[in-house]
Amino acid sequence: MMATTPQTNRIIDSDGFELHAEDEAAMRQEMAHYEQPQAACIDALKIVQRRHGWVPDKAIGAIARVLGIGPGEVEGVATFYSLIFRQPVGRHIVLVCDSSACFLSGFDELRQALVNQLGIDYGQTTEDDRFTLLPVCCLGACDGAPALMIDDDTYGPVTADDLPALLENYP
Ligand code: FES
Repeated sequence: MMATTPQTNRIIDSDGFELHAEDEAAMRQEMAHYEQPQAACIDALKIVQRRHGWVPDKAIGAIARVLGIGPGEVEGVATFYSLIFRQPVGRHIVLVCDSSACFLSGFDELRQALVNQLGIDYGQTTEDDRFTLLPVCCLGACDGAPALMIDDDTYGPVTADDLPALLENYP
């Protein structure tokens, strides 16, 4: 069962999750690109994450309803993709590449400098909700190892000395 609130254009799912009508339309648009609705699952999760910053448990049922698949399937995809966040994250996501080229080119020093400067470890968010720090596989920027990504921006090579100025760009 669901109810629509015309003022906000949101659909209140039976479990209380507010799925924005625009987001549902975007999910249905993605579904139209595939033969199987399951194939649109990752897109649907990204749509929810774009609006909310992460994917709350209650969103899983709403996505499953739109796609017409089981919540377990949606949960499985959400769990598999490390860049689908299942808990609140900071305003900016710092992803540190730990794949081979970066690992051999100063990754550990860079990671440690980030941990020191932000005062958090992997999987944690700064107290001011500004940054969340996460590891990531190859960013495809091996020529610039060690590399990191902040939101949609890739940087490399990055040294510990570069970090203060770099992080300043993300208030
Ligand atoms: S190994 Fe780090 S960007 Fe490719």
